[in-house]
Amino acid sequence: MEKTSIHGMWSSRLAFILAATGSAVGLGNIWRFPYLASDNGGGAFVLVYLGCILLIGLPVLIAEIAIGRHGRRSPITTLAQITRDTAVSRGWTGIGWIGIVAGVLILSFYSVVGGWTLRYAWLYLSQLFGGDPITDPPAVFGALLADPGELLLWHGLFMGLTVGVVALGVEKGLERAVRFLMPALFLTLLLLVAYGATTGHLGQAAAFLFRPDWAKVDAGVLVAALGQAFFTLSLGMCTMMTYGAYLPDRVSIPRTGLIVGLCDTTVALMAGLAIFPIVIAFGLDPEGGGAGLIFTSLPLAFEAMTGGIAYGLAFFGLLFVAAWTSSISLLEPATAYLVERGRMGRKPAALMMAGICWVLGLVTVFSFNVWSHVRVLDRDLMGFIELIANDIMLPLGGLLIALFAGWVLRDGILREQLDGMPQWGFTVWRWLLRVLCPLLVAAVLINALF
Ligand code: TRP
Repeated sequence: MEKTSIHGMWSSRLAFILAATGSAVGLGNIWRFPYLASDNGGGAFVLVYLGCILLIGLPVLIAEIAIGRHGRRSPITTLAQITRDTAVSRGWTGIGWIGIVAGVLILSFYSVVGGWTLRYAWLYLSQLFGGDPITDPPAVFGALLADPGELLLWHGLFMGLTVGVVALGVEKGLERAVRFLMPALFLTLLLLVAYGATTGHLGQAAAFLFRPDWAKVDAGVLVAALGQAFFTLSLGMCTMMTYGAYLPDRVSIPRTGLIVGLCDTTVALMAGLAIFPIVIAFGLDPEGGGAGLIFTSLPLAFEAMTGGIAYGLAFFGLLFVAAWTSSISLLEPATAYLVERGRMGRKPAALMMAGICWVLGLVTVFSFNVWSHVRVLDRDLMGFIELIANDIMLPLGGLLIALFAGWVLRDGILREQLDGMPQWGFTVWRWLLRVLCPLLVAAVLINALF
């Protein structure tokens, strides 16, 4: 009989693809990817990033899903059980702990930014009903960041929506949400790209994104691209391991992993093709837009173009949905662990973890106003949390997962999970995990640290 997860199971392959794509597609694709590309010279960054996805992201993604399905428990419990069964050091369980801590840290600031998307969706919605236009977008954005109360409110609302889904469970919460939200997201994005095409600048945008300028590729671009590959595929903190634990046995992991990676990459590129034509059409500079790119420059375009208000609403609504289906995947691993170990129900477990993340989010909120003068390692506090979680813990987690699946796990376990993968594919995959991923990730980690 099939071993099932006590937390629930995805009802089908499609449900898993939607959920995993929902996790992968998030602020990382629509907010972070365009501005990283913009700051790192466009095409040079995009090509390096695509290479990282293919050679490092996909192999680690497949490893995470396979380990998760083998254990069918939360990451820490799964890893503990594997180390016991195969008589290897219990230290490998640390991967699960890194994951939970990284997840809490990431969700703490992710939810604050998720709150911004709600705030902006609301701004455009109210404009449809005669609210004030956004004539000076940087000032509007600045005013939001300067007001801790306002930030806390939207951060709380976003976290509330996240915990609401997770508390309902895998089938009634997560799966039901993504079934409806992911198709809506994809359709909206298609519409936005189609609009981008009508500006007549789609070609220019594509050139900016895809024409490589190799002179611009340096260590910094590589660090950013690899970090983004982990972040956008939700890797390195056992999110995909957790989602894999709920995946029915009959589903092919390599094929499904490939589809998820493809969908995620497509959405990132489409987001670029939706955003940059508008940026170019309105005479804004596509290069060096920074983290505020979509909150400060796009609204300028939205105010000027016909139907811009509806477009703004669609855009920030899309961004919110993308962030929402990702934030639930940030909360799920810790919640599942707490249910297993804390002898508590899912609802209190989810509430407790979300509460911790919300409180920790205060650091991010205050980093824009009352604590804006505080600098750690030359960054503000949100930047510091991002550095620790995104740039250090995710690559470290990914590195350890690659080593664990590459060198420690028995062949038999992997073969069983990757049933149907051709022999050459298995060999290449194992080699990537054993040699290429650890070397590249370690190099980048060391670079990021020093
Ligand atoms: N992948 C999501 C994005 O691109 C963010 C995310 C969700 C994530 N779960 C994760 C990132 C786990 C790292 C690890 O926005």
